[in-house]
Amino acid sequence: MYRFLRPLLFRLGPERAHDVSLQAAEVAQRVALPLVKSQYRFEDERLKQRLWGATFPNPVGLAAGADKNARAVPFWEAVGFGFVEAGSVTAQPASGNPMPRAFRLREDQALVNRLGLNNDGAEAVVERLEEGRTTRTCPLGVNVAKTPDPDVLGTAALDDYRTSFRQLRSEADYITLNVSCPNTHDGRTFEDPEALDELLAVIESEQKVPGLAVPVLVKLSPPRSDQVLFDTRLEEILAVAKAHDVDGFVATNTASDRRGVQAPDERLAEIGEGGLSGPPLADRSTRLVRYLYQATNGDVPIIGVGGVRGAESAYAKIRAGASLVQLYTALVYEGPGLVREIKEGLVERLSEDGYASLAGAVGADV
Ligand code: FNR
Repeated sequence: MYRFLRPLLFRLGPERAHDVSLQAAEVAQRVALPLVKSQYRFEDERLKQRLWGATFPNPVGLAAGADKNARAVPFWEAVGFGFVEAGSVTAQPASGNPMPRAFRLREDQALVNRLGLNNDGAEAVVERLEEGRTTRTCPLGVNVAKTPDPDVLGTAALDDYRTSFRQLRSEADYITLNVSCPNTHDGRTFEDPEALDELLAVIESEQKVPGLAVPVLVKLSPPRSDQVLFDTRLEEILAVAKAHDVDGFVATNTASDRRGVQAPDERLAEIGEGGLSGPPLADRSTRLVRYLYQATNGDVPIIGVGGVRGAESAYAKIRAGASLVQLYTALVYEGPGLVREIKEGLVERLSEDGYASLAGAVGADV
């Protein structure tokens, strides 16, 4: 069906097309959820995993940014995602950067965006999540970022994260700290090892509240060069994450550079700044997954994200050490049928390679 819808959606700007799609998803989940489920159903025990105390029916998740405000969680579950990451959510509502701020690079099946963390804010999102709590059928992550306001700096920035964390943790199976958004110009980024140390100390103190601890993941940028192994900043980040017992990593966010892109320079100049997503990111994010898996001896689960657009790219991330994968850009180009296709392809690959379950293939290439 998406084959027919896509040309219509692609006549609209990317952001408008996304709004229309989300509205359609909301209508579908209100009036036709069983039908959607039956259209996309594909389950297989071999894809199931238990991670962070939750059961993931399959490893294919919706990446942050696709449903920032958690408007269509039942729809994503119905099309077969094994988990959904809402957000980024910030403590205060935010309108983001001026439009236009999202662009398609069709020759690369890629996107560039500089949305700038537009979202309804933690309070509104938590209300929506509370309403849907009883009907959720798969794990839900919430991705938290700092309110994109240049005045929210220093301790105010830490308090901002703390506020979102406190509000959202009880609705989440895991919280991702987005410290790698390339689209705000607030000065210091929390991917800086010292800043990350301060942030994780704050979160760690919040985890001491009895009964309220939640798995915490850190979402990283793509590696700056191909030489991941010699990136000392990455080593420092890892040391900080380890010192604070971070429960997992999400690798990676979008890239600020345009490496690996086919689109002509004039088009890129016309678009300007923003985070690149889709296939040009695939190998770089897989490389970081492999590095993280090695550096943590496979003890810390990793969500691999960046350019997943079929079973092959998903399986490459899994074999590099990802327990779970996520996608967003491929959903725009291929539609929700892709989720089932990836799951079927993964099951085929597992049996070809002789693995009884997905967990057996995690890190097989490392
Ligand atoms: C994103 N992404 C993102 N990530 C995040 O942590 N918080 C966010 O709010 C957003 N917003 C967002 C908007 C848009 C339009 C895109 C395309 C992406 C990044 C996303 O979660 C993912 O890390 C990258 O897009 C790479 O995956 P794909 O798109 O190549 O599958």
